[in-house]
Amino acid sequence: MRKQQDPYSLATFLSCSNCNRSYPVSEVINVSPCCNQPLLVEYDHQKIFLKEDLAGRQNNLWRYFEMLPVKDPTNIVSLGEGFTPIFPLKKLSDNYGYSSILMKDESHNPTGSFKARGISVAVSRAKELGIDKLIIPTAGNAGGALAAYCAKAEMDCVVIMPAHTPDLFKNECELYGAKLITVKGLIDDCARKANEINNKNEYFNISTLKEPYRVEGKKTMGYEIAEQLSWQLPDVIVYPAGGGTGLIGIWKAFDEMLKMGWINKPLPKMIAVQTANCAPIKAALQDPEHWEKGFTPKPTIAHGLAVPFPFGMHLIQKTLAESNGEAITVTEEEILDGINEIAKTEGIFVSPEGSAAWKAIAYLKQKGSIKDSDIILLFNTASGYKYMESFNGKK
Ligand SMILES: Cc1ncc(COP(=O)(O)O)c(C=O)c1O
Ligand SMILES: [Zn+2]
Repeated sequence: MRKQQDPYSLATFLSCSNCNRSYPVSEVINVSPCCNQPLLVEYDHQKIFLKEDLAGRQNNLWRYFEMLPVKDPTNIVSLGEGFTPIFPLKKLSDNYGYSSILMKDESHNPTGSFKARGISVAVSRAKELGIDKLIIPTAGNAGGALAAYCAKAEMDCVVIMPAHTPDLFKNECELYGAKLITVKGLIDDCARKANEINNKNEYFNISTLKEPYRVEGKKTMGYEIAEQLSWQLPDVIVYPAGGGTGLIGIWKAFDEMLKMGWINKPLPKMIAVQTANCAPIKAALQDPEHWEKGFTPKPTIAHGLAVPFPFGMHLIQKTLAESNGEAITVTEEEILDGINEIAKTEGIFVSPEGSAAWKAIAYLKQKGSIKDSDIILLFNTASGYKYMESFNGKK
C-alpha cells in the first residue's frame, strides 16, 4: 500500500483564462496583464493525489488541500466551511414526478452562504502572500463572509454594498468589524466605488474573478458533489448564477478530477439560473457579442443574482457550451412561491437564489431539456433566514 504523505499543494502557476499565458503563483496579482481577464490556478496533475487519500480527513473544504493554492497549512483561515449536506427532496420529487431531485444545501456554511468557501481560500492565500487589507464590492453574502474571515485573520476589511440590500447583510459586516459603505445601485456601481476609494491600491480587491483564489474555494463544491455521491455525478446541476464563480469553479473541479482519474464522463449538464430582472447570461447566449445591450438590469429579491456585467462572462459561456447547458430565468413571484413550497414540504427555508434554482426545473422539463429519470442536483446557495426582512414586505 502507498504510504500517505503530509498533504502539500500541487498548485504550479496562474494561467490567463483567455490566452493561457502563465504567471508565477507567488505573484500578488488581480487579473491577467496580457488580456485583462480572470487568472486561473493550474495544478500538477501528474503528481499522485488519490481519492483514497481523502479517507479520514476533516469534514471541510480543506480536505482537498492538494488541489488548493495555499502552500503552508498554518496560513489557513477556516471557520469550518464546506462539506455541506446533499439531501434528496423526496416529497417534491414525488409530487412533481421526478425520479430524483437532490439539494446541496450551502446554508450550512459559516455566515449562512456558499460565499464562505471562496472567501476562506482567498483570505488564506492573501495571508500567505502578506496582504492584510481587503476590499470587496458585493451583492450581500460575500461581504458578510469577508468581514467574518477578516476578523479571524486580523485583516482590515472594506465592504461596498447596494443601499437597498436588507439590513441584516449590512449589520453582519459591521458586527464582524468591517467598514461598510453603501451605494445607490447594483454591484457594478459598488465596483466603481471600490475602484474610486482604492485609487492608491492600498487594499487588495477581491471582487469576483478579479483575483485568482475565490474560484478555487468555490470549486470544492464540485469535488464534494463527486465524493458525496460516491463518484457518480448527477445528470444535471442547476445553479443560481450571478458572477458565475460557482458554475466556473464546479466545471474546473470536474476537469481536474477527470485529469486525476477520479471521475469519468459524461459530465453533468450545467444550468445557470437567473431572474427575469437581471439576466445577462441568457442575453449572452442569445447574442454572444452584444449581450451587454440585451437587457435592463433591475434589483431582485435574489440579491446574489443581480450582477449585470459578470467579469467572467466568457468562462460562463464556455462552461455552458462545453456542458451542453443553458440559462433559465424565473420571476420574483415564482421565487417567493418556491420558498414557501420548499419550506412547507421539505422543512428547509431556502434563499431566494435557491428557490430560483428549484423553479427553473419546471422550465427545463417544459422545454424537454431534462428527462423525468434524470438525477438533478440543485443548489441552495444561502439560508433564507438572512432574507427575512424581504418577506415582511420591508425590502
Ligand atoms: C445566495 C447567492 N447565490 C448565488 C450567488 C451567485 O454567485 P456566483 O458568483 O457563484 O454566480 C450569490 C452571489 O452573490 C449569492 O449571494
Ligand atoms: Zn492573456
